[in-house]
Amino acid sequence: MTSRSTSPGKIILFGEHVVVYGRPALAVPVTQVHADVEVSDSSRAGIWINAPDVNLHAELNTLPSDHPLASVIHNFLFLWRVSPFPNLEITITSTIPVASGLGSGAAVTVALTRALVSHLDRLMTDEEINGFAYEIEKLHHGTPSGIDNTVVTYATPVYFIKGKPIETFKVGTPFTIVISDTGISAPTKESVGDVRKLWEADIPKWESVFDRVGKIAEEARKNIESGKWELLGKLMDQNHTLLQEMTVSSPELDRLVSAARNAGAMGAKLSGGGRGGNMIALVEPERAEEVSSALMAAGAKRTLITTVS
Ligand code: MEV
Repeated sequence: MTSRSTSPGKIILFGEHVVVYGRPALAVPVTQVHADVEVSDSSRAGIWINAPDVNLHAELNTLPSDHPLASVIHNFLFLWRVSPFPNLEITITSTIPVASGLGSGAAVTVALTRALVSHLDRLMTDEEINGFAYEIEKLHHGTPSGIDNTVVTYATPVYFIKGKPIETFKVGTPFTIVISDTGISAPTKESVGDVRKLWEADIPKWESVFDRVGKIAEEARKNIESGKWELLGKLMDQNHTLLQEMTVSSPELDRLVSAARNAGAMGAKLSGGGRGGNMIALVEPERAEEVSSALMAAGAKRTLITTVS
């Protein structure tokens, strides 16, 4: 028997970084990219992990215990007191670029957990999967807010405040976003750590910057729900400026943001941890291809056009 699970990527529309400090953020799933996991019984002894994208073919016990994939499996087997370990073949593939702000780590964790739940005949609610994935995120990302695992687990638009029950939001009128990758992988842990250093050095200043971003996220939610998506462009621009102030943009991200605006996008900002990874641009649907081409001409490694609905 083979058990399969798939999880989408995600993008943050507003509020990355400040969400770590209790301000709201908005994020949506991106189903064009996904992590896929297959678990089947094996005729050879051990738990074999095949992750061809990262050239990994190894038995679980030969991997360091803090290896991202090994830590999910070890924690799962420990949680469920699975003993003795079953013989398994686990294949993991993903079309979500790693360390690019699209939630690849959370998507792999959630898909792997769900495939194990189903293969080993356990039951976990979405809330339990989300809690488990958050614990794994904490192992690898320092002080994550939990937004990535939440959007990926529930695969729905999320208005997220750390530590609060999940709130989804309705999209009044669907709108189009171009997502564009700098091709530079940038670990979230580092940019989150650097923002923390800034904050520690001048808490009143940064609390007020974080409040401004929080207000932007709240206003964006109202506009999305009432179908006034055109108003999001200006809010994206404002959010990007404040992210620049937090030092999490980069010359490559700024170049793509300017290229998108010059090509007619209604607004643009970096998305996720920053310093590399992806940016997003709000576009009228009929301009999406034009903006996407301009982004490629400005050095993007790939672009993705997605409708938020
Ligand atoms: C990463 O996708 C989003 C950040 O806000 C970090 C976090 O929320 O854990 C930068």
